[in-house]
Amino acid sequence: MEETGPNATQWRNWNEISGPKWVRAAAAMETRLAPVNDLLLAHAAPRAGNAVFEIGCGTGATTLRLADAVGPDGHVLGVDISAPMLALAQARITEARAAQVRLLEADAQTHAFPPAAFDLVLSRFGVMFFADPVAAFRNIASALKPAARLCFAAWAGIEANPHWQAPHAIALRHLGPPKPRPPRAPGPLAFSDADYVRDILAEAGFADIAIRAEPVVLAGKSAAEEAELALQFGPSGALVEEKRPDDDLRATLRREMEMAFARFPAAPEGGGLALPATILLAQARLS
Ligand SMILES: C[S@@+](CC[C@H](N)C(=O)[O-])C[C@H]1O[C@@H](n2cnc3c(N)ncnc32)[C@H](O)[C@@H]1O
Repeated sequence: MEETGPNATQWRNWNEISGPKWVRAAAAMETRLAPVNDLLLAHAAPRAGNAVFEIGCGTGATTLRLADAVGPDGHVLGVDISAPMLALAQARITEARAAQVRLLEADAQTHAFPPAAFDLVLSRFGVMFFADPVAAFRNIASALKPAARLCFAAWAGIEANPHWQAPHAIALRHLGPPKPRPPRAPGPLAFSDADYVRDILAEAGFADIAIRAEPVVLAGKSAAEEAELALQFGPSGALVEEKRPDDDLRATLRREMEMAFARFPAAPEGGGLALPATILLAQARLS
């Protein structure tokens, strides 16, 4: 599908730029983000038999955990705008024989979902990319049963996420500042202000809104691999994508980023890196 709707820019990003990169780096991305799944699932507490609506399911790492949690009598609908990411998710779900999962290529902001169908809506880092977040959460709310719960993880600010701040400082020093953009433009850091997110959810019809910053230690594999990821993802990756450094400068960035990641503590077990991070965990109910 060629997207021409309000999220056309993000459609292009997740189908042509970030999505294909994510698919290539899926194993590393999923290892490092697995601790976020543990936190999110513990807070959302999906139950056997639940119908769960997952927004921005990507390559399916959280979807598979949800499938296990709801069991064969439950149901998971994973929605995403990225065809390449969904293709990998579908392969993994087929391999896992998770017949309770259905994936849908659609824009969560505008798609007409079945009304009042889900007990829980959940997302790991998939709700910060809407052009109109209030419209998107209103649309999502229309698919929820009256007693349904919402639970999602978003990134806190870059200052609370040294695994992003360190490579971003290096990229900034070599590449200069990014072109100006509105502070809450769709992107990984768009929801880093809890008050802003609270207002969006309230305006979209949610109540009992609780948003809290939660520390989490990401599981980095090695300084070299983290440097490679930082060249592609997050604030440093966005700057590299915008400025397109030549091969020599890219090699310099990689080397300096690897040195910066080598200063992070070693993981207590497994030989990798312990990357301290902060996420915002948001929970709410329909009002
Ligand atoms: C940072 S990735 C997270 C993917 C996955 N949840 C994970 O944690 O591995 C953000 C995801 O949100 C999806 N996304 C962005 N805008 C969307 C929209 N309007 N509707 C549905 N999915 C969207 C992207 O395609 C991408 O898969």
